[in-house]
Amino acid sequence: MSGPSLAIFGAASAIAEQVARRFAAKSARLFLVARDPARLERIAADLRLRGAASIATHAADLDDPMALAPMLEAMETAIGVPDIVLLAFGTLGDQSAIVRDVEATRRSLTTNFLSPACLLTALAGRMESAGRGLIVVLTSVAGERGRASNYVYGAAKGGLSTFLEGLRHRLASTGVRVLDVRPGPVATPMTAGLGLSGPLLAAPGRVAADIERAIEKRRSVLYTPWFWRWIMLVIRALPEPIFHRMRL
Ligand SMILES: NC(=O)c1ccc[n+]([C@@H]2O[C@H](COP(=O)([O-])OP(=O)(O)OC[C@H]3O[C@@H](n4cnc5c(N)ncnc54)[C@H](OP(=O)(O)O)[C@@H]3O)[C@@H](O)[C@H]2O)c1
Repeated sequence: MSGPSLAIFGAASAIAEQVARRFAAKSARLFLVARDPARLERIAADLRLRGAASIATHAADLDDPMALAPMLEAMETAIGVPDIVLLAFGTLGDQSAIVRDVEATRRSLTTNFLSPACLLTALAGRMESAGRGLIVVLTSVAGERGRASNYVYGAAKGGLSTFLEGLRHRLASTGVRVLDVRPGPVATPMTAGLGLSGPLLAAPGRVAADIERAIEKRRSVLYTPWFWRWIMLVIRALPEPIFHRMRL
């Protein structure tokens, strides 16, 4: 017997891969989207060995609006309307360069806000018609207060959280649920060049375990690891004169 159906957009993400492993072990039917077809096939082969009931892959650049319709058609052919969708694509980029580069700002806002928002609109319509499903999106604690080191990325993620809040409100009387996952820093390729270390840097496996638990507990917003809820409460409460003296 097969488990739930799961569509992952940004399946090459280190966090998404860990989530996919957990669902493969539950005999899930998977539909995986990423840019690099060879990488997708490697990930799919690994997930097959881990117990996935079926896997379909689709190579696409998620910033390409023309890729949307064929991608969703491929999804419906493979698994129908999924029980769960996970959006895990994003780019941090070199924020010190992005803040001075109009095109780089546009690219960051496109990948981190515009593309997920458009994809969610298309997915939510299908799930609303089906009257069921769960939408899981990786946003970030960076979206909770704009700061010098990453406010372009943070603004996109904050906008995405607001989008998800509204989507959850719109779908509240349907069978469709929305989970906003807000990780702190995670040790993945996205943060590899930043020289981060220490107890505030989470492993992607830890974040995936938190996501699985939040899905089971039907949560709406997840801070992962848990202590980021309280760290961000303090950071949001800091008065600007104090905040401006901090290098964040
Ligand atoms: N790592 C952190 O500290 C952290 C913290 C908070 C939130 N997040 C969020 O968590 C999510 C997963 O990130 P991660 O940490 O797992 O980093 P990651 O391993 O670098 O994954 C990011 C993925 O996004 C994909 N991607 C970017 N632009 C794309 C596009 N236009 N089309 C298709 N795929 C695209 C990348 O594909 P390629 O491999 O082809 O480049 C990459 O596989 C992201 O949304 C990120 O913003 C991460």
